Amino acid sequence: MSHNNVEAFFEDVITVKWGPDKKSVDIIDQTLLPGTIKRIQLSTKEEIWEAIKKLRVRGAPAIGVSAAYGLAVLADGIEADSFDPFFAKFKEYKDYLASSRPTAVNLFWALNRMEDCAKKNSGSDIRTLKDTLYQEAQAIRDEDVQISRGIGEIGFKLLENLKKDGKPVGILTHCNAGTLATAKYGTATAPMYIALEHGWKGDDMHVFCDETRPLLQGARLTSFELYKAGITTTVQCDNMASILMKSGKIDIIFTGTDRVARNGDAANKIGTSGLAILARHYGIPMYICAPSSTVDMSTLTGDDIPIEERDPTEVSAMWYSSPMVYEGVDIYNPAFDVTDHTLLSGIITEKGLCTAPFDKAFESQGMK
Ligand code: MRU
Repeated sequence: MSHNNVEAFFEDVITVKWGPDKKSVDIIDQTLLPGTIKRIQLSTKEEIWEAIKKLRVRGAPAIGVSAAYGLAVLADGIEADSFDPFFAKFKEYKDYLASSRPTAVNLFWALNRMEDCAKKNSGSDIRTLKDTLYQEAQAIRDEDVQISRGIGEIGFKLLENLKKDGKPVGILTHCNAGTLATAKYGTATAPMYIALEHGWKGDDMHVFCDETRPLLQGARLTSFELYKAGITTTVQCDNMASILMKSGKIDIIFTGTDRVARNGDAANKIGTSGLAILARHYGIPMYICAPSSTVDMSTLTGDDIPIEERDPTEVSAMWYSSPMVYEGVDIYNPAFDVTDHTLLSGIITEKGLCTAPFDKAFESQGMK
């Protein structure tokens, strides 16, 4: 059922929360969406790692929050009387979770923040230290909600400038950078949800969701959550974006990102860079929406961002009753590509709208 009550919608779709007694991480298994809404509880290191690897929980900020929650749960189970043996085991868990996916910098950012918290509190007794780690994980989640809100307010101003009498604002998005990818508002979807909070009706905008081959995050996840929030939504195959742009239906493009390099190059779901090239051709503004924690100032350009390659069967067999690629044919399956910063109209962080030169803009937002 679709509805226009944004808060009720967010209560329906909580991407990551604590399991009973904080002994597990409770997530919506996103591999089952949209057909089945099922929550699962992850309590072992293998379960948490597998859920991130297999995209049961995915999207850069949600990966960071789940890893932080997961590390807090695992830390709570460590049997140690003093800091050194506690920290040795904690570090082993942290390094293991960090090996789950390589591209989204939020994973490493959140895990490093948990490690810094452990080190800063090395003088506490072990019970207090464990409680402090729970609090740090909770802070990472709570901050993510505020950060997405900030991104949404800035993106909403861009939408307001595009609103013209009686015609919905046409928005294109790719993959899922929505509530399912974060703690609440999403990044690329935050301007849309904030528009609802500011009184826009769901049909004041029309969001076109790229299907997003091969894992279909746009079709399965983004259109699902926007529809549930009461926003007018259409799904198209990725190769239909060009005709949509040419037809004049798209006023603006918002996507998320998994890592932004110092120069503004941005890695996001495979297909994003193609959209940016098309957008430049058709003169459509394209904005990347990202928490400042996704900007990695130590990565100088997009060439330095590690790109995850995934199982070839995601391309050949995953959604089909029989394989669609002849056995033995080579398959290429990079999960992300890098959009050149010169193609972007701007990068929206919670601190403001950054425009080129991006390194200077990031520095002026306090990023080092
Ligand atoms: O492979 P996924 O589904 O984790 O990829 C997700 C994306 O590419 C998102 O756009 C990105 O992580 C930003 S989520 C706010």
